[in-house]
Amino acid sequence: MQVCRTKSDIRAAVAGYHGAGESVGLVPTMGFLHDGHMTLVRAAREGCDRVVVTIFVNPTQFGEAADLDAYPRDEARDFALLEAAGVDAVFCPSVEEMYHAGAQTTVVTEGLAGMLMGALRPGHYAGVCTVVSKLFNIVGADRAFFGEKDYQQLLVIKTMVRDLDMPIEITGVPTVREADGLAMSSRNVRLSPEDRAAAVILNKALAYGDYEASDGRTGAELEESIRAFLAREPRAVVESVDVRDAATLAEVTGPIEAPVVILLAARFGDVLLIDQRVADPT
Ligand code: PAJ
Repeated sequence: MQVCRTKSDIRAAVAGYHGAGESVGLVPTMGFLHDGHMTLVRAAREGCDRVVVTIFVNPTQFGEAADLDAYPRDEARDFALLEAAGVDAVFCPSVEEMYHAGAQTTVVTEGLAGMLMGALRPGHYAGVCTVVSKLFNIVGADRAFFGEKDYQQLLVIKTMVRDLDMPIEITGVPTVREADGLAMSSRNVRLSPEDRAAAVILNKALAYGDYEASDGRTGAELEESIRAFLAREPRAVVESVDVRDAATLAEVTGPIEAPVVILLAARFGDVLLIDQRVADPT
């Protein structure tokens, strides 16, 4: 596995693959890899001749400096996992290598970036879109793989690629969970044992919401009953519960008749966890 720390190194590696007529799959990550990330890597391995993984904790998508500083990192462990999974190249630039001093350009999906998680964290999706479009330009992969766990992020990226005619195909991969249903996340290691146990309420609330969605409720009514369900767990400080159209993230004012996505965000201690599930009442 080739470890590339500069843009020119990863460009040269990918030029070699393309020169040999091989397709290239890209898996962008912020590292501290778990089986969710590795499932994206396996999907890329199956669908492409060569696999490039990027590891970059992107400062421009973090609202709070404390959250950025607390983000877990373990490069040696990540490299060992990627090597064992048959990854061809890993791109792990420094912040200075990634961002030009005095950079002036950001990529924003007007609309999607300002709603839901984007309203709670202004600038977050601009940070994501800008870094992901830079990664697409630097690596030049044919396909890129993203998790459905970050549902809004996946929609934002698909929209950006469509709107800007980026020559890359985006594939979404279903959420990978721990045995008790908690969605895998690099943040889970920061949970206290009590909060780790309490956090299973998120997946339970999604299953409950999925079941209740087929009962002719409106979006607002379903949000209300999911909030009531989450209130059973006092350790969960609920940040948001949203039931939205699964394709557009528009609000569902009338009875739920088309697929909706249930989006949850809750704090356990100082760790913010998110989870999602698509419910199809049809
Ligand atoms: P990160 O949180 O490291 O996630 C990298 C990719 O792994 C994302 O596409 C995310 O949706 C996916 N992922 C995380 N947990 C998952 C799970 N339990 N099951 C399936 N997929 C999962 O998302 C980011 O990094 C960044 O915003 C990034 C896109 C790299 C831009 O900086």
